[in-house]
Amino acid sequence: MRICVVGAGYVGLVTAAVIAGLGHQVSVVENHPAKLAVLRRGETPIYEEGLPSLVKDNFRDGRLTFTDDIGAAAEKAEAVFIAVGTPSQADGSPDMASFYAVRDALCQLPYRSNAGRRLAVVKSTVPIGTGDALHHFFQKNAASRSWQVISNPEFLRQGTALYDTYNADRIIIGTEEEDAAHLLMKIYAPLGRPVLLVDRRSAEMIKYAANTFLAAKISFINEIACLCEQVGADIGAVARGMGMDARIGHAFLRAGIGFGGSCFPKDLHALLSTGQEAQLQLPMITAVAAVNHNQNLLLPRFLSELYGDLQGVRVCLWGLTYKPGTDDTRDAPALAVLAELTGRGAQVTAYDPQVKACWLVKQQFPAVAIAHDSYEAAARSEAIILLTEWPEFAHLNWNRLRHQVKRPLVLDGRNCLDGSVVEAAGFSYAGIGQKRYSLKRLQARTGSAEMGVALS
Ligand SMILES: NC(=O)c1ccc[n+]([C@@H]2O[C@H](COP(=O)([O-])OP(=O)(O)OC[C@H]3O[C@@H](n4cnc5c(N)ncnc54)[C@H](O)[C@@H]3O)[C@@H](O)[C@H]2O)c1
Repeated sequence: MRICVVGAGYVGLVTAAVIAGLGHQVSVVENHPAKLAVLRRGETPIYEEGLPSLVKDNFRDGRLTFTDDIGAAAEKAEAVFIAVGTPSQADGSPDMASFYAVRDALCQLPYRSNAGRRLAVVKSTVPIGTGDALHHFFQKNAASRSWQVISNPEFLRQGTALYDTYNADRIIIGTEEEDAAHLLMKIYAPLGRPVLLVDRRSAEMIKYAANTFLAAKISFINEIACLCEQVGADIGAVARGMGMDARIGHAFLRAGIGFGGSCFPKDLHALLSTGQEAQLQLPMITAVAAVNHNQNLLLPRFLSELYGDLQGVRVCLWGLTYKPGTDDTRDAPALAVLAELTGRGAQVTAYDPQVKACWLVKQQFPAVAIAHDSYEAAARSEAIILLTEWPEFAHLNWNRLRHQVKRPLVLDGRNCLDGSVVEAAGFSYAGIGQKRYSLKRLQARTGSAEMGVALS
């Protein structure tokens, strides 16, 4: 089949490469000139495990092509996958400008009389009712009446996007038009994944509800972690014990500094904005966002309390991406942490294994120094805060680090370090909700002679 994918981001490029790998002819439309230039060399402008080789192979074999001409690419296609961004606006609602630009371009294509129907597959996360509105928009116009609209939300996770696409728990197909559903099922059939057929609005709601539920699990475990600190329980043990209950499961029960990224915060706020439009209070979802906001700022605020004042204090940040395995810093907790620390006058040096993440952050926070590795970032620091659980942080030479820092303090925002190893090297260490290494314990020790010596 001839397929067109509009938007070569994390969703679009992965979708395009996987579908091309299934043997289809895929034309990808990308309107960002720099990204397009990279793609046209058969290279990948985003970091995603396994993606460069899949793109390269299909590009070389001529199954994957790149263009900025949506008209030409969509005209020849049997199905057009829309995967453009829908970022948050100031009021929390998604910015649909890119989506509408695509809609308007598709609308211009000539009517297909005997060449068959055209399929518009909406993969972007869009407000509930968008698919129906697109359907009516196409129906109003004689030329675009051949379009059929399917809502086909995407559930891949950055960092494991290819794995998630090949092993999707489910493929949601939202349409009431049977022939359209069958065409899309035919495209996905080789993946052999379970398909759920629903109406367009329910498909759109499934995406928002699923992301909000996962975000709620994170905020829930973080709230319990804060309570663990106060009552002397250990969040690791608690999460393990909870997760063993098959009704709960282990996923998304890792306490830390909260979620970020291009999806959870955006989708949460989009759903709240939908609630507002429907004049419905959504107290639970409001709480999920509020808990996460506080959690993002927990460590810089703790540090500020610990030291009394952060003016001129040298702080080292390890990890800037919102999670490991990606170069994405959109809405990363690191941004909130940086705003808080620099707002309090701290001098921040940051390191992330992804160079692109470093320069993205540097653009937003020019005063922040960027280091080439963990050791350089930690040099002469008065506190190290770990924000992203990149595997390399678990294999550092703590004795070497102890000689480089000015004050030996480590705050582990992802509970991914071994506190006993870090403390054995002479550091003071605390994680989130850890019984042995709680923030409360660290705070209690600051007044003591032991801590005064340790931190000097
Ligand atoms: N990133 C994820 O993990 C993820 C997961 C599930 C769903 N989603 C949803 O999928 C959508 C895309 O997300 P993403 O992370 O891939 O976004 P992205 O910003 O990485 O990619 C979007 C791409 O579309 C391009 N684009 C914008 N307007 C265009 C136009 N008119 N013509 C051609 N190209 C255009 C942009 O230049 C960009 O490269 C969003 O709605 C998002 O919420 C994302």
